Amino acid sequence: MRIDILSVVPELLDSPFSHSILKRVIEKGLAEVHIHNPRDFSTDKHKKVDDYQYGGGAGLVMTCQPIVDCIKNLTAQRKYDEIIYMTPDGEQLNQGIVNKLSLDQNILILCGHYKGIDQRIRDLYITREISIGDYVLSGGELGAAVLVDAVLRVIPGAINNEESALTDSFQDNLLAPPVYTRPAEFEGKKVPEVLLSGDFPKINAWREKEAYKRTRDRRPDLLD
Ligand code: ADE
Repeated sequence: MRIDILSVVPELLDSPFSHSILKRVIEKGLAEVHIHNPRDFSTDKHKKVDDYQYGGGAGLVMTCQPIVDCIKNLTAQRKYDEIIYMTPDGEQLNQGIVNKLSLDQNILILCGHYKGIDQRIRDLYITREISIGDYVLSGGELGAAVLVDAVLRVIPGAINNEESALTDSFQDNLLAPPVYTRPAEFEGKKVPEVLLSGDFPKINAWREKEAYKRTRDRRPDLLD
């Protein structure tokens, strides 16, 4: 899988892909992540990428030319399954969207800044708009990092134990059950007996029950 990210603040994306699971996924050759700066495509003599909005109002808007030229440069080289714009007014990201995107070959992600991007870019080039939650970030980069992290950790081979990603919260619309590691007792609190029993059918039943209980208590909406 190949992911291209367009950002005018590429430094914000330096670190998320250089550690842990994502680093391994990239090193194993299971995925490539490439960052591009639309500013490099600006034909303005000051390399400007934004301008005042028509109709007045505070805040600059990212202009069509640098972004569209950057997109065209990439789409001339390969076909993208999705061209995604990260925006607070997009559809809210969930595990279902993540799983679906993880099956794609090539994804292009555009990060907005300032007041956002000229609507015509959205109308003409964007195939999907994604929000990571009902709050406004100062740019799409952190949202893109969240999206890429979630997608790359579910691609086959990303996690050593194949089962691990499938038992994450949300994979079956349930939150994950509590987990414990050694020691068996800490500050007077014991690990539930059943987890020490070695009786796997019983352990699985306990985990299912706890997952259901946690979901009912914290996210009853997921059970609807
Ligand atoms: N850009 C700004 N806010 C955002 C959000 N909540 N989700 C995705 N991209 C964004």
